[in-house]
Amino acid sequence: IQEPLVLGIETSCDETGVGIVRGRTLLANAIASSMDEHARFGGVVPEVAARAHLEAMTPTIERALADAGVELAELDAIAVTSGPGLAGALMVGVAAAKSLSVALGKPLYAVNHLVGHVGADLLQADGLRPAIGAVGELELPTIALLVSGGHTSLLLVRDLTGDVEMLGETIDDAAGEAFDKVARLLGLPYPGGPQIDRVAADGDPQAIRFPRGLTHPKDLERHRYDFSFSGLKTSVARWVERRADAGEEIPVADVAASFREAVADVLLTKALAACADLGVPRLLLGGGVVANARVRELAAERCAAAGVELRVPPLSLCTDNGAMIASLGAQLVAAGHAPSSLDFGADSTLPV
Ligand code: KG4
Ligand code: ZN
Repeated sequence: IQEPLVLGIETSCDETGVGIVRGRTLLANAIASSMDEHARFGGVVPEVAARAHLEAMTPTIERALADAGVELAELDAIAVTSGPGLAGALMVGVAAAKSLSVALGKPLYAVNHLVGHVGADLLQADGLRPAIGAVGELELPTIALLVSGGHTSLLLVRDLTGDVEMLGETIDDAAGEAFDKVARLLGLPYPGGPQIDRVAADGDPQAIRFPRGLTHPKDLERHRYDFSFSGLKTSVARWVERRADAGEEIPVADVAASFREAVADVLLTKALAACADLGVPRLLLGGGVVANARVRELAAERCAAAGVELRVPPLSLCTDNGAMIASLGAQLVAAGHAPSSLDFGADSTLPV
């Protein structure tokens, strides 16, 4: 089938996503988020997320079908995120997808969440424009930098349906998690990323030189493409504490701007090092942290300077969603891959 009609289910974190695509055409992208329920805890609580997925699953599937104007019986296949992510959250999506597959007699494709983020870039619809960067066909190979509250990964993608290599990832906090934690210590509400972005606009990014994790020559030997944000977070905490102890006012805008600069700098330094080392003149961004104004600005600047083509899908497709999973499922069907056998399970650490 060249243009398969695929329903995709995504539940790896706090978004219950159900998307429907026909080949590369986006037909529906229904999302329910439990973000508000996690706000008072300052981060995603796995138990709360899993329960919210269970409650949101059926209504979100129904909404996607209605939006797409499609009946379940018409589907060619179902795709579902089987990992990586929160185990309990993933299990809800996997169970829902298996039930649909068995009840409808439709093939089921278990897909990797991170590769799904890259699949988002293939989708087309009237009025759908990239957030920034190049339009048109995604050329391969590409380097992909995926940054959210749950992951910070650098991939080399040669073929979406079978040849994806993990170059590096965070060895501690995810970039979005660092935004959330630093926002919290500055007294800003959850989720912290958008708050830091807002406050940083009035600050001086050069005011404080915060550390860039894993960029020292000795770290680069083993961790050239890996990230670390916990040292940065601690450094911001210490800086703020020292000021407070001295009875001085905290220059929140400068701290936010300097922190944001450190994150953006290290993300793009590593991503462009991968492009240069591997001779790949393309960089694709994905994940919720792509909403960050400075990350996108610096990406555009550094890519232009390095002669690297930058691709950033629309933000609605950068954050976790079911359409990206459906898109990758459609590629697997079109490439003639066999469906997954029903004995797969949720795998919180699924490799690419
Ligand atoms: O992809 P996403 O919606 O999914 C999960 O990780 O679940 O990413 C959410 C993350 C949060 O950590 C949030 O603080 C961060 O992305 N984020 C941002 C911005 N908007 C969202 N981080 C920095 N700047 C932003 N403007
Ligand atoms: Zn994600």
